[in-house]
Amino acid sequence: EPLDIAATVEALTRTVHDFPRRGVTFADLSPLFTDAHGLRLTVEALARAGMRDGLRDVDLVAGIDSRGFLLGAGVAMHLNTGMLPVRKAGKLPPPVLSRSYSLEYGEAALEIPASGLSVAGRRVLVIDDVLATGGTLEAAIGLLSAAGASVVAAAVVLEIADLGGRTKVKDIPLTALTVR
Ligand code: PRP
Ligand code: MG
Repeated sequence: EPLDIAATVEALTRTVHDFPRRGVTFADLSPLFTDAHGLRLTVEALARAGMRDGLRDVDLVAGIDSRGFLLGAGVAMHLNTGMLPVRKAGKLPPPVLSRSYSLEYGEAALEIPASGLSVAGRRVLVIDDVLATGGTLEAAIGLLSAAGASVVAAAVVLEIADLGGRTKVKDIPLTALTVR
């Protein structure tokens, strides 16, 4: 990606140490989302990456609850696809498909509806804001694959390289607009 995208993301990211707990560094992208130029640049870069990595045949965008929603919706409108919100556990009525993943402490799960939408056979681009340990993205990809989708690409704004999340996302092209 052009350097100005990474530079823009970095300039508009608020980095907070020891949040939400000691030892964790939190990347708050709110300033980026609030900036008209930053938001447009970010959405367009994610869409471009997804189209390139998905060999131009992305026909559905999946955004991960909750910070992936606003980016995913923007990317979907840019690509002229629909957008599937991949939800945290307990938000959707049954029946759901569910996939659990580990957090630093405990477990969480992501869910999508098990009926009423056509995910099987779709070529899906998965969007989230940050890749840290990779547990969230891995669970989303597993969930969509279990539903019969082809996850053709994933794209995030910010990758925290030290946490090794990329190693959890095998065989799927993964773009980060900036890497720390
Ligand atoms: C954050 C972030 C990513 C995820 C990355 O979401 O938005 O989705 O963590 O972490 P991982 O790579 O270690 O799984 P969070 O679960 O804090 O929820 P939110 O998006 O609802 O704020
Ligand atoms: Mg999130």
